[in-house]
This record gives sequence, C-alpha cells and structure tokens, in this order.
Amino acid sequence: MTVDTMALRSCLGLFATGVTVVTTDSADGVHGVTVNAFSSVSLDPSLVMVSLDRRSKACDYLGSSPFCVNILAASQHDVALHFAGRRGTVPADIRWADDDGTPRLLGCLATISCTPWASYDGGDHVLHLGEVQHVELGEGDPLVFHRKEFHQLGRPAPTGWQPGTRGAWRWAEILRKGRKP
Ligand SMILES: Cc1cc2nc3c(=O)[nH]c(=O)nc-3n(C[C@H](O)[C@H](O)[C@H](O)COP(=O)(O)O)c2cc1C
Repeated sequence: MTVDTMALRSCLGLFATGVTVVTTDSADGVHGVTVNAFSSVSLDPSLVMVSLDRRSKACDYLGSSPFCVNILAASQHDVALHFAGRRGTVPADIRWADDDGTPRLLGCLATISCTPWASYDGGDHVLHLGEVQHVELGEGDPLVFHRKEFHQLGRPAPTGWQPGTRGAWRWAEILRKGRKP
C-alpha cells in the first residue's frame, strides 16, 4: 500500500524540529543548505546525520567533504530561507568563517564540525553521517520549524518531569554525563 504523499507531508510536518544550515566547501566555492532532517546518531563514536535530497547540490558535495551543521538561533529565519534557495537580498547576518578549513556560519546557536563517516541510500534522499570533530556552543533560543512555519520556543510543558521524578534521574544522568550511567 502506498501512502498519499500529501498526507505523509502533512503528517511529518507535525513533528516539530530545529533548523540547521549545513555548510561545506565545493569546487564552486562555499555552499550552504537549510536542513531540518538532522539527527544525533551515536556518542561513541560521535556521529550525526543529515538527510539530503538527491537532487540538491549539497548532496553531491557532502559525501566527500568535511561539513558543519550550524544550528540556527530564533532570529535566523531569513538565513534559513536564504539557504533554502530564496532568491533576493542576502541577509546581513550571514557571516562565514573557515578557521579550521571547513566553512561555517557565525552567529548560530551551535556549530558541529564533521568529517564524512558514511552515506546510505535513503530513497530519494541520501543519509549522510558525519563524525563530529569539534563543537561550538553559542547562546540563545533555537529556531523551530512546525507545519511549514518558523516558530520560537514556547513555554515548557507542565509535565512535572524533574530530576527526582521516577525514571527521570536516569535520563538526567545521561544528559549530564553525555552517556548511559
Ligand atoms: C525549513 C526547511 C528545512 C529543509 N530541510 C531539508 C532537508 O532536511 N533535506 C533537504 O534535502 N532539503 C531540505 N530543505 C530544502 C533545501 O534547503 C533546498 O532544496 C535547497 O535549495 C537545496 O539547495 P542546493 O541544491 O543548493 O544544495 C529544507 C528547506 C526548509 C525551508
């Protein structure tokens, strides 16, 4: 049975994500692409994943070149649109750096520098895994994408989920230490 594509798109759009711009060097110069199909994969080794449309230029570049995953801050929706192919004026807050040889964006919430680890068939997309070499942390709130629109974070959900809640200590420990206790 095949799922209706529009229904699938609508369904997946309900899953709120952050927004990243994945940057890399190419024969044509520095390149950036807006990506919300980003995920952590493994802590040891340190792996992250981005899923790229086979038709995108970025998909060709990523398999063989180091890349950075730049996590966008709440104010950077114009940066997201720019790297999603919106033509027009380049946003003033796009500033590049490439001090370690891999181009990255300044002013983001965080940047994860990666070397290519492996690429896997993902249908009309390719899953590019990168081994994390370096992370840089900024400050602020993330840009959020939900139902085709950009958002800022709302209030924390009233879950009562605190360190000390049954079962929560274990996850708090994992988050604190970055690994399973
Ligand atoms: C919020 C947002 C998230 C996106 N996420 C992805 C994604 O995860 N994977 C992807 O291949 N394209 C994604 N896109 C579309 C690409 O950014 C767009 O097709 C881009 O123009 C490809 O650039 P390129 O061909 O120059 O590499 C996203 C666009 C937006 C606005």
